[in-house]
Amino acid sequence: SSLKRFVDKLPQMPKLYGYSRIFPIPASLTIGMYQKKWKFHRDLPPTTVFAYGTSQKTATVPGPTIETLRGLPTHVTWQNHLPRNHILPWDRTIPTAIPKHGGIPTVVHLHGGVHQPQSDGSAFAWFTSGFRETGPAWSQKTYTYPNVQHSGNLWYHDHALGLTRVNLLAGLIGAYVIRDLILDGILDLPRGPEFDRHLVVFDRSFSTDGSIYMNSTGNNPSIHPHWQPEYFGDAIIVNGKAWPYLKVQRRKYRFRIINASNARYFRFSLSNGLPFVQVASDSSYLPSPVHTPKILLSPSEIADVVIDFSNSTTKQAVLTNDAPYPYPTGSAVNQLNGNVMKFIIAPTRPSRPDTSRVPANLVKYQTATTDGAEHTRYIVLYEYTSKSGKPTHLYINGKRLLDPATETPKSGTTEVWKVINLTGDNHPLHLHLASIQAIKVQKLVNLKKFKGCMTTKNDAVACNVTHHATGRLLAIPPYERTWKNTVKIEPGYQTTVVVKFNLVDTGAPYPFDTTAKPGYVYHCHILDHEDNAMVRPMKLVT
Ligand code: C2O
Ligand code: CU
Repeated sequence: SSLKRFVDKLPQMPKLYGYSRIFPIPASLTIGMYQKKWKFHRDLPPTTVFAYGTSQKTATVPGPTIETLRGLPTHVTWQNHLPRNHILPWDRTIPTAIPKHGGIPTVVHLHGGVHQPQSDGSAFAWFTSGFRETGPAWSQKTYTYPNVQHSGNLWYHDHALGLTRVNLLAGLIGAYVIRDLILDGILDLPRGPEFDRHLVVFDRSFSTDGSIYMNSTGNNPSIHPHWQPEYFGDAIIVNGKAWPYLKVQRRKYRFRIINASNARYFRFSLSNGLPFVQVASDSSYLPSPVHTPKILLSPSEIADVVIDFSNSTTKQAVLTNDAPYPYPTGSAVNQLNGNVMKFIIAPTRPSRPDTSRVPANLVKYQTATTDGAEHTRYIVLYEYTSKSGKPTHLYINGKRLLDPATETPKSGTTEVWKVINLTGDNHPLHLHLASIQAIKVQKLVNLKKFKGCMTTKNDAVACNVTHHATGRLLAIPPYERTWKNTVKIEPGYQTTVVVKFNLVDTGAPYPFDTTAKPGYVYHCHILDHEDNAMVRPMKLVT
């Protein structure tokens, strides 16, 4: 496309408060999904999107930022006001919600949230407009988010069976924060709507008429007429605008950066060499701030950073991206997708001095250790290809979502998951409910032999994985050394992940309900993989 970069101002999404602002007591929100027109760029005709909001008029892409307080539950009634037909092609040959009476199945998942399975947004709990039709696991109109976990950055997005990639591409995403006002006061990081902002980043392609462009011919059309293994767009969108700009003062800002792309990894840096001071990742703080020139974020990962513009020797700084796509072996970025947004830095010092700081110590949770782990599991990622070598589908442990749950952890316990990636690409592994942390990433030697064995036996122990997971170690970047909900899984490596089914600040077990039917899931967060069908059920037991 020939769209000019850095011509639109960075928007701030509207805020919705998940508590009463008069008294700190719980609140109820009603958020709808609407079809509407959205301007992604000054010179692009309006685009038809699906947007979250309290009305069609106020709905935005991304949706409103939900602000909550730790310990105060937020109730949300999610309503589907979408029309009969999707704005994007939809492949019915993959496991998909297909309503009998038409309409667009949707269901909302709070990514990173600790909540009951009935409020988790099971792929089978979908509903169409006006709850006219509901999926087999649907049970309630109103979801409850107890916000019992420590403070941090979450986000919400659609999770309907087989439609996640198209529903998110259409615009069904938004940010969610759990704040801890006492901790915020102690840390004293940049605060307030001007200096503490979200950057929700994703890639899209557009046709000249402004519509979202998605290749509607599958890479293997005789098997899946519309499914492509990864969606990549050339335009980089931040808070709903393509390559926006933000005028900043010479002071510190806090940016909560969410990679909301379907499949694109971002490796961010600043063109003027300023470092990021990362303070948190996904939904947890780091033990101490990490100064880093680059941050690699897979889909659904979050980097919470401070940028201090007071040290800038230049008048502007472009936020750039140099991650190949697919990551790590695909094409190099170009002028379009290699740029994200621009900061225009004020020439002089601000009249109001910056009193915020980045303390040397942030937050310490329970340490990630395999000591006392209740269970060790092998989780193997597979890609299946047709004779031509093109992917047809992806599975975990050779199984589908519909196969019975094999991961049935006990609430309150710790497990060790050894995640083995037999594919050529990196996959962001995301677990609902749990807190996870990678502690060791080790190359598999004699990979060919191991793969050969796994294709016939599909059993890592029988295939002698301990003899193969003996290669070189890959360093885990310091900015990932905390509790996360998504971990990048390197191809040809075994990643050892500590998985906690308790609250990682106090160690208290989740107050969960084991009788609920849907249970949770874990999956690859490349949405095109998740939909076909790199996703498995996970059922907590007592
Ligand atoms: Cu962000 Cu199961 O998803
Ligand atoms: Cu994947």
